Amino acid sequence: MEKERSYTHQPVLLEEIIDYLNCSSGKIYLDCTLGEGGHTERILEESAPLGKVIGIDQDEQILQVAAARLSKFGPRFQLVRDNFKNIKTILSELQITKVDGCLMDLGVSSFHFQSQNRGFSFQIDAPLDMRLDQRTHLTAAQVINKSTESEIGNILHHFGQETWSRKIARSICNYRKKKEFKRPNN
Ligand SMILES: C[S@@+](CC[C@H](N)C(=O)[O-])C[C@H]1O[C@@H](n2cnc3c(N)ncnc32)[C@H](O)[C@@H]1O
Repeated sequence: MEKERSYTHQPVLLEEIIDYLNCSSGKIYLDCTLGEGGHTERILEESAPLGKVIGIDQDEQILQVAAARLSKFGPRFQLVRDNFKNIKTILSELQITKVDGCLMDLGVSSFHFQSQNRGFSFQIDAPLDMRLDQRTHLTAAQVINKSTESEIGNILHHFGQETWSRKIARSICNYRKKKEFKRPNN
């Protein structure tokens, strides 16, 4: 059971994004990273009474938060659980040929760092999972315990722009000879 969250989520660059999207009634917006729905809520307010938002996220838990928050907008808001890499298919299934604005607020949310059981936080002891889509099978523990030294180095180098990627990868592989990585603090 998740503990009640102790923070209020603040969407980043909210005013700038709303300004840039130039929201107005009757338009369709796509939020590719819905999260807790902070940006979408404001887009729907600004595009009342007829603006619509399609909100995509692959994380079921955070979608429940967004769905509760945005239910007040009724059919003006449509939620899709999917990876945004499938935008083309998602829009074609919804029979939408054009959108008026699109938002990608990439990464994870404070929701993930605060979650008790997802393994994103250094401060909360939980299995090293870190999957955003829990229908997939590859966990962070598997990546860190099973990948080769060169694969781990590449991940740190390409996705983390880490200067010490090779050195860190070597240390990880030396450590795991003695003990598997299981939790953020092991
Ligand atoms: C920074 S948060 C978005 C916060 C959101 N703008 C708000 O106001 O609450 C990023 C969200 O994108 C989702 N996400 C990350 N990669 C994704 C992907 N490839 N496809 C769909 N959702 C993704 C995460 O699950 C997370 O909820």
